[in-house]
Amino acid sequence: MSLVIQSVSPHIGAEVIGADLAQPVGDNLFRQLHQAWVDADGLLVIRDQRLTPEQQISFSRQFGELASAGDNPVIQKYTLPGYPEIFRVSNKKQDGEPLGREDAGTYWHSDGTWQTFPSKASLLYGIEIPRVGGNTMFADLYQAWETLTPTMQHMVEGLKAVHAMANAGGTSFEREFTGKGDVVAAKTAIHPLVITHPDSGRKALFVNRGYTARIVGLSRPESDALLGFLFDHSTAPELVYRHTWRSRDLVIWDNRCTAHYAIPDYKAIGDRYLHRTSVKGDRPMQ
Ligand code: OGA
Ligand code: MN
Repeated sequence: MSLVIQSVSPHIGAEVIGADLAQPVGDNLFRQLHQAWVDADGLLVIRDQRLTPEQQISFSRQFGELASAGDNPVIQKYTLPGYPEIFRVSNKKQDGEPLGREDAGTYWHSDGTWQTFPSKASLLYGIEIPRVGGNTMFADLYQAWETLTPTMQHMVEGLKAVHAMANAGGTSFEREFTGKGDVVAAKTAIHPLVITHPDSGRKALFVNRGYTARIVGLSRPESDALLGFLFDHSTAPELVYRHTWRSRDLVIWDNRCTAHYAIPDYKAIGDRYLHRTSVKGDRPMQ
């Protein structure tokens, strides 16, 4: 069956029609999907999939090695029992215990940029979705770079920034790390503000309000002013696709050239339950 690929916004995102990821995905089909993903600036939507945890894991592994809860108790309690690679994102509770991480990423961020090798890709599969609300916004960080003036591009290229998990601060998950001897303050990495994506060869503005804490070599006020501008610029409505979830959607994003924001507006409407796999980064950003 041949694939149909349609853009979902003028810049970022494509929907793939005609793929059944519950079947083994051969090299040829995987190459087509991967190329569609790169061409869509790192965001793919594949609807109407029926994926068991095993099927999601085996498809996700084709992108690279997966992150796993390992023996980290904070992560473990959110993973699907028996599946340390499946992180559950949900507001639901069973017998008072969370069935997943509530309010995951309810601010602009790219997953794990506080790590030395930021996550390549995240694959989020919608299982229970409220009738309305609970959308996820995705911003195009290639466009963010390309729409800066040459003068501003010249100013920011060559700068580096500290990314810190603690920067996201407010949410329960980030706070949880602090109490467990797993010091959130230690989770930091330094990356260039402008990176060249290894697959596309294109430059991206690698900043996100959630984790990018400080530009190296600038004073606090200088850094705050420049980052504040770059955060606003990189999430302008023109650069954003807003995904309205349906049950059985698989959304795949690239954490090196997109940022995302989960909108926590749905709780009076209904419950939300999704399975996420994360592909580990394998190189420094440069
Ligand atoms: C994530 C995340 C977005 C959402 O799982 O990394 O940010 O809409 N989730 O749940
Ligand atoms: Mn996220």
